[in-house]
Amino acid sequence: MRDKPKVLQLLKLLPWLEERLSAAYEVVNLPSDAAQRTDFLAKHGAEFTAVVTSAAYGIDNAMMDQLKQLKVISSFGVGLDKIDVAHAKAKGVAVAYTPDVLNDCVADLAFALLLGIGRRVSEGDRFVREGHWSSGAVGPFPLGFQVSKAKLGIVGLGRIGATIAKRSTGFEMDVRYHSRKPVASEPWTYEPSLMALALWADFLVIITSGGAGTRHLINREVLEALGEKGFLINVARGTVVDEAALVDALQHKRIAGAALDVFESEPFVPKELYELDNVLMVPHIASATVQTRQAMGQRVLDNLDAFFKQQPLVSSA
Ligand code: NAP
Ligand code: 8YV
Repeated sequence: MRDKPKVLQLLKLLPWLEERLSAAYEVVNLPSDAAQRTDFLAKHGAEFTAVVTSAAYGIDNAMMDQLKQLKVISSFGVGLDKIDVAHAKAKGVAVAYTPDVLNDCVADLAFALLLGIGRRVSEGDRFVREGHWSSGAVGPFPLGFQVSKAKLGIVGLGRIGATIAKRSTGFEMDVRYHSRKPVASEPWTYEPSLMALALWADFLVIITSGGAGTRHLINREVLEALGEKGFLINVARGTVVDEAALVDALQHKRIAGAALDVFESEPFVPKELYELDNVLMVPHIASATVQTRQAMGQRVLDNLDAFFKQQPLVSSA
């Protein structure tokens, strides 16, 4: 029987995915201790042609360089902000990832957040649990903002942004979007100015790519433009929003509210946000459903399988 190909796994994955990987490959886990890792890479770095990582964990250029025979990175996720694709390409390393299979779930969560913050869902839940409704001592519970027929601004009309726009039709929302160029295949109104979009929108949903190109795209000025009638929803990357400016805007009620799946220094969240009722926070769960994580894991396997069979990767950057 032929030896199984070796695969280097950089982080813990879903148990079923680890089982499937181990059935097909000789999987070696990268040591979690920093000193052991350096030693391991120096001794064994040249033994691997394939690496499995995730969008959240990524792989840095130094590690790519230490893996002298590396030919493919199979990443669990669509974001490429923690993988330098240009560096990989220059070294002849292919970057495989999992686009499209998560569009629906990320768009669903964007709407869950939008509805949650607009209609004060988590705030209402706290109000009931804390006994304020039954005691009648605090109240009445404040009015929310109507989502149906509201103005939806989408920043980034890519695969997921377009899916969010499609969801909005059920709510009869007026949709405009901003990105660096218009998307000819989509019917929505293109807004070349991000500031103009923020001024116009009731809900501004951020779903651009992350990385240096979008760092702090949503800054103090954009938040001022969104203003006290506007809600910010971020399902892209924490780095796209200037978090200090956002905290300040929320504390001083210069925007109506924010609903956040992602943060600048995950899993750490600014403590000031814990105190505020005008923010809704979840722990980076936009793609975290059984069905979508299954599809993402399957794509990681399919990409590796294609690589070792010397076939075209199913999805590569
Ligand atoms: P995509 O199809 O590549 O779309 C990215 C969009 O961002 C494009 O519309 C692009 O348009 C726009 N964009 C890029 N740079 C921009 C800039 N400087 N200004 C304005 N717009 C810009 O990617 P996708 O599959 O939709 O995913 C988008 C991102 O969502 C991923 O990169 C990932 O970081 C994030 N994500 C988060 C989760 C989560 O769990 N929260 C899950 C999946 C994905 P132009 O190129 O025309 O500007
Ligand atoms: C996941 C994501 O949380 O795909 C992405 O870019 O941010 C999310 O789907 C991530 O892949 C897990 O590492």
